[in-house]
Amino acid sequence: MTSTKNNQLYTTLNNGIETPLFGLGAWDMYGKEAEQATLDALEIGYRLIDTATLYQNEKEIGNAIKKSGIARSKIFVTTKVPNPQQGYDTTLKAFDASMKALNIDYVDLYLVHWPIKGKREETWKALEYLYNNQQVKAIGIANYLMPFLKELETYSSIIPVVDQMEFSPWLYLKDELQYCKQHNIQLQSYSPLTRGKKFKDERLQKLCVKYDKTPAQIILRWNIEHGVSTIPKSSNKKRLQENFDIFDFSISKEDIELMDSFNENFRVVENPIHML
Ligand SMILES: NC(=O)c1ccc[n+]([C@@H]2O[C@H](COP(=O)([O-])OP(=O)(O)OC[C@H]3O[C@@H](n4cnc5c(N)ncnc54)[C@H](OP(=O)(O)O)[C@@H]3O)[C@@H](O)[C@H]2O)c1
Repeated sequence: MTSTKNNQLYTTLNNGIETPLFGLGAWDMYGKEAEQATLDALEIGYRLIDTATLYQNEKEIGNAIKKSGIARSKIFVTTKVPNPQQGYDTTLKAFDASMKALNIDYVDLYLVHWPIKGKREETWKALEYLYNNQQVKAIGIANYLMPFLKELETYSSIIPVVDQMEFSPWLYLKDELQYCKQHNIQLQSYSPLTRGKKFKDERLQKLCVKYDKTPAQIILRWNIEHGVSTIPKSSNKKRLQENFDIFDFSISKEDIELMDSFNENFRVVENPIHML
């Protein structure tokens, strides 16, 4: 179920909490740059920030949230369990460390960052504990492709609200998208812009001319049309604004299908399937 608020789309997750469908990905920004990019994003209207312990910028993101003057309840913050700390007790410790670094009242969404072999069940149980203990508003997973999702069914008591994975027209994961829709899990695309590697695709360029939009805007809108949440990264204010300006147009059904056909299993990040 989606609704429009403050010029952007929100969706209700399977545990009843609301989240913007679009947000800032905060990987590869550090120190003052991370703080400024988050402040710029919040000023533009972003209300979802995706970080992780691994990104080493939780402190700066927490600072930006406080400096922004925007009510904490209006911002959706995601962070993730670092891989080396997966396991039950270590995940609980990692969560405490994230809370300390972020220095905000609560985290909206805590994710398992990667499906680490031998650790998946214990880590998920720790997240379930945090959720049941009301220490976090929602819990989810990242990089869980079909085999990991099927396995999760065997040991989980709580359905994750989000599965964050690499996803783009060149990596159109139809099975995962269908599974997530069927199970009421919100698919969230990371590296949605392929880090710019596919911007020159001639078929994309033609769509840019047709819709009078940039490559980033066409790709991000393709996610929205699929009901996929997306978290592009930029630490440049102009590009943050460009990426945000995707709620004033739509792409035709035919062109969405055309973009679906770009799929060539292209990835910029390691394939999680190797962790099986
Ligand atoms: N769960 C996971 O395992 C996982 C893995 C990877 C990523 N993520 C999350 O997903 C987020 C996004 O993915 P990503 O950072 O890998 O890649 P991305 O969002 O596809 O691309 C980011 C790159 O594109 C540039 N860019 C942004 N907007 C642009 C625009 N409008 N025009 C031209 N270039 C533009 C950025 O540079 P500038 O900053 O200079 O604009 C940056 O170099 C991450 O930040 C992170 O939060 C999660």
